[in-house]
Amino acid sequence: MHPLANPLTDRRIVLCVAGGIAAYKSVDLLRRLTRAGASVQVAMTKSAQEFVGALTFQALSGQAVFTDLFDTQQDAEIGHVRIADGADLMIVAPATANVLARITAGMANDPVTAAVLAGRAPILLAPAMNVNMWENAATQVNVATLVERGMRFVGPEPGVLACKWTGTGRLSEPADIAEAAARVLCPQDMAGLKVVVSAGGTQEALDPVRFLGNRSTGKMGRALARAAVRRGASVTLVTGPTSLTEDTGATRIAIHSAAQMCEAVCTASAGADLVIMAAAVADYKPTDVANGKLKKEAWGPSPSIALSRTEDILAKLGSERLEASPYLIGFAADTENVEAAARGKLASKGCDMIVANDVSLPDRGFGSEENAVEIVTSAGHQSSLSLASKDAIAHGVLDQALREMGGQKL
Ligand code: CTP
Repeated sequence: MHPLANPLTDRRIVLCVAGGIAAYKSVDLLRRLTRAGASVQVAMTKSAQEFVGALTFQALSGQAVFTDLFDTQQDAEIGHVRIADGADLMIVAPATANVLARITAGMANDPVTAAVLAGRAPILLAPAMNVNMWENAATQVNVATLVERGMRFVGPEPGVLACKWTGTGRLSEPADIAEAAARVLCPQDMAGLKVVVSAGGTQEALDPVRFLGNRSTGKMGRALARAAVRRGASVTLVTGPTSLTEDTGATRIAIHSAAQMCEAVCTASAGADLVIMAAAVADYKPTDVANGKLKKEAWGPSPSIALSRTEDILAKLGSERLEASPYLIGFAADTENVEAAARGKLASKGCDMIVANDVSLPDRGFGSEENAVEIVTSAGHQSSLSLASKDAIAHGVLDQALREMGGQKL
């Protein structure tokens, strides 16, 4: 398993809960963190305990909750210095306007602010408050100060607030806070790199209701985009239709056809450092697209569909290479002679790396949670990544790309 595939595993996280109605969402956040393998110690302000009982957090974290700064027994066992010491990450969720102000002022008069002040670990703040409180100059100055001090923020999000107002102030969804936490814990070895990833299959219209498509779900491409975002890259994800909704942190461009994907990928590739074509792009499209739904009478008893070639996006990018062109990675889905086919595609498409997988095997490739790949590169390197989660494979592919890109620059 690649060490970055789940950056929360075996990490010590302090979850600080301040007093806002969004505190109930911190329960879900806690479950996500512990399920991902983190050990989570919770600290709560007095007002947080008015919204959610400490017992809920204790039962779900399996650890005593730090609720009282002046309890002699708590202070000896889980006092502010003790819980802050050795933490890999501190998350404040929800971070109210009041708590942000007190953290900015360096106060330490409750379990949350005391733990934050005593800690040396990175701090991730997830604000939640009324829109006017968020937009107030006092809060904005506090946020700017905390950012300057190196603290990270996730949210707040726009939407309908608990106070029935509409505006920015909602606590980010627990899944997004957990993803932001994963990013904080990942090495930022792709910071400053601009990456383009294509994902999913394309749909080639026959008429307004029918299309020719393929079995790609977009999981591998999304895993690559998520992995690059976690490692600090600025990522554009060009994706065909998919049922996957979770936020990868990439800028998402949704397309349907190969022609749309070609335009989006080529535009995004200008100035990029790395382009990864993980999409299963249709090689053919119907030559004629009907304006209205094709009826059976028009099709006849055994119709045939005239097809014409789509543009090969990878080959197009590979043929237009200049010195400053991005490092170009293609994927190859084959059912036999996988390695030989990968070498053939490396040459015919003019790319720097082909990541090949055997889609005839049931436990990998299209739609599955795992993958195993062979990697061949234009620098003559060859390696294989054995069966693992698509997140682990994605990090392995990025590792190899970074090595080769570094080599190119030398
Ligand atoms: N690809 C592309 N544009 C296309 C077809 C494929 O950019 N019109 C890219 C894919 O995104 C992938 C690589 O080419 O990165 C190889 O795709 P694959 O389907 O395995 O191979 P094809 O080139 O389509 O060849 P064949 O189907 O004959 O194996």
